[in-house]
Formats: sequence, C-alpha cells, structure tokens
Amino acid sequence: MNMLELIEKKRDGGVLNKDEIDFFVHGVTDRSIPDYQISAFLMAVLWKGMDDEETAELTMAMSRSGKICDLSNIPGTKVDKHSTGGVGDKVTPILLPVVASFGIPCVKLSGRGLGFTGGTIDKFESIKGFSTSVDPSSFKDRIEECGMLLGGQTADLAPCDKYLYALRDVTGTVPSIPLIASSIMSKKIAGGADAIVLDITCGSGAFMKDEASAGELARRMISIGKLAGRPVSCVMTSMQQPLGEMVGNVLEMQEVLQILRGEGREDVKKVVLTMAAEMLHLTPYGRGLEREELMERCREKLNNGEAWDKFGELVLSQGGMLQSDGSPVFVDQPFDVMTVYAEKDGYIASCDALSVGEASCLLGAGRMEKEDKIDMGAGIRLYKKIGEKVKRGEELFTLYTGSDPQVGDDRIDEALFKMQDAYEIASDPVEPPKEILSIISP
Ligand code: URA
Repeated sequence: MNMLELIEKKRDGGVLNKDEIDFFVHGVTDRSIPDYQISAFLMAVLWKGMDDEETAELTMAMSRSGKICDLSNIPGTKVDKHSTGGVGDKVTPILLPVVASFGIPCVKLSGRGLGFTGGTIDKFESIKGFSTSVDPSSFKDRIEECGMLLGGQTADLAPCDKYLYALRDVTGTVPSIPLIASSIMSKKIAGGADAIVLDITCGSGAFMKDEASAGELARRMISIGKLAGRPVSCVMTSMQQPLGEMVGNVLEMQEVLQILRGEGREDVKKVVLTMAAEMLHLTPYGRGLEREELMERCREKLNNGEAWDKFGELVLSQGGMLQSDGSPVFVDQPFDVMTVYAEKDGYIASCDALSVGEASCLLGAGRMEKEDKIDMGAGIRLYKKIGEKVKRGEELFTLYTGSDPQVGDDRIDEALFKMQDAYEIASDPVEPPKEILSIISP
C-alpha cells in the first residue's frame, strides 16, 4: 500500500477500507507521510466525502493514535460536552458547575481558541492562578474533591488529529463534515467519556453555515457514537449572532458570573439549560424525566446559588484565586476604548457573529496564529441583539482592550469598521433568531 494510491482512490470517489485508513493514520502520526501528500488527501476527502463507515473507521483510528483516558475508576456516568465553536460561547463554565451540582462527575477536556472562535481554556486562564494542565492520573482525586475538572487536551490525546487539524487550518480543508466529525469524536472517545452531548453551532460565526449541514454533521457524529458504543445527543444552536452580550476572555467570564448568580441574559441560559438537561438525560439521574423538568431543576441550581458555590470549588481546586465574595480574581481588567451609539431609530436586523468574532480578535482577544499571546482584557460588549428595539443615541457596543493593549490604533480602527458592518438597523420589526434550532437525542 502506498499513499499515492490512497490519494488517487479518494480523488476518484473510491471508498477506503479499514486497512487503508489505518495506514493513513499511522503515517500521519509517525510523520512518515509527507505534508504535501496528507494535504492532497485531505482535499480529496473535502471534495469526495467519506461514507459513515469510513468516517467511523477514521475516527476510531485517530482516537487510538495516542493515549486513551481510562475514567472507569471514577464512579458514575461520565458525560462530556463539546461545542463545534462559536463567538461569545461561554456555555462550559456555567454548564459544568450546574451539572456537577447534581453529583454527576464532569471531566471536560477543552481546547484553546484559534481564529474568530474563542476557547474555553483561554477563558479559564483569565482567572489568576487557574491551571488547566491536569494530569490524567489526578482526575479521580479532582472529581472526588469537587465533582468536576477542566483540562487542556494533552499532546498525547488523539495526536493524529492535532497534526491533521493544524494542516487543515492552512490548506482550506477545515469545512468537511467527515473531517470535522472524526476530529471531534476521536478526541471525545480518547477522552474516555461514557456519553457525549454536542453543541452544533450553525450560522455565520460557526463552521456549519446552514441547518442542513449542521443536521448532517449531527447525524454523522451520532452514527460514530453508535459504533463506538457511546450515546451522543446533538443540540443545534444558532450562531447567527454571538451568544450573550460579552465577547472576549475576562468579559465572557464576567458574564458567566452574572448567570451563575441567577441574573443575566436569557439566551445564554436557554443554551446552558438545554445542554445541561441533555447531559442529565444521558445519566441514570435524568433518564425517564422530561427535558422541561430537567431544565427547571437546572435553573433552580442557578437561582439557589448551588452552581455559584460549585464554580468557586472548581476555581479553588485548580489553583485559581477567589475574592472574599466568592468571585474569581482576574489576570487583567477590560479597559473601555470606545462606545458606539445608534445613528437611527429602528430594530436590530443583524449583529453578525463572524464580524464580531473577527473584530474581537483584532482587538487582541483571540489568536491569528497559534503562538499569539492573548490580551485577556480585550473584547466587545454588545448592548443590542437581533430583534431588539433601538433609539438613536442609544449604546450599540463598546470595544475593550486590556490594561496593556497588544494592538495598535490601526487594529482598533479595523475592529471598529468590522463592528460597524456587523450591525444593521431596520425600520420594521425583526424576528429574533431562536437559540435552539433542534435537538437529536438517542
Ligand atoms: N473542532 C474540532 O475539534 N475539530 C474540527 O474539525 C472542528 C471543530
């Protein structure tokens, strides 16, 4: 077998067998296949696709390319959650304490942000002292201590995906359903979870731009889960506009604290509570209970302070600092650079997620390159969301940098132009987008 034959077979629309896929994954992992052949193969997959069986074989081979976490020494059903990425997506830091406060063990392995989407690891690292390097040998102790942990994906977890993802990022081969499905599911399977809930974002600020492709991605991941013996639930959520009103690391964590106090925006709560109910539903606690009932029980955890207390336990257990009122100490504070006001009366017709994500990146909140240093205080506050009424002179958005800005005035100006493009005001009423588009459960 050689790599040229595999490239040609896929280029001509052939279906690869298990041995051929194993050959590819081994060759990527041990670096025996050169990047130009891997890239050509990825492009062939992007154009010709893969069927369910090929996608499942690729996923399983990638999940075996490194260490597999064994969580069997932690009692209970371990449910993992993953989002396909979005702008202002602060679901995990709220969801974990909510679910853990039911006594459900949560082991969450998250990634860093790249490009216009934010990363959960970066958000937690905006808390002074918080360490996301958690050794798998200490998972059990962490779970016993506070019922949850948040770790970075280690180099030895699905290393084939790490390498492929970096190449996909620079060869225009990210938006392929079989490649995205296998990338996400290989890490979830290697992470050792018993069941998986996926937030499949859909819209301008997501990889899946329309509901049909989001549905197809969901179907693929559920099918992989079936073959791997892990139940998978998919929640399709809208990423037409950012989630909530804050975008940026410290800013988003400030919004997280608001929600954990039972306050804050309903759109964020809706997504968190839907995801939490799906997670509970996959455990013995929630099986047989209606989703609405589970969502109400989760909401109660936000309202009665239990989720807030659990969040504090998580911060302390991973070395983070808390103030006397239980809120975390952040590494920096957002510095208000400028606020822009509406120029006319009307209704918000657009608050484009992609433009807001890119503007936030330009301010220093995200990485353009993997090695870029993030400005934790940078980001954007959105005062108005799609469908809301606005009056001339009312605040639309504020741009922030940290106390020591990483970017010059040219980048701030560019961010401002992007934000001005992101917002559209219409004279007629506009229907706000639904946060939850659909749910597919096992
Ligand atoms: N997230 C991943 O982990 N992989 C992808 O391919 C896309 C989103």
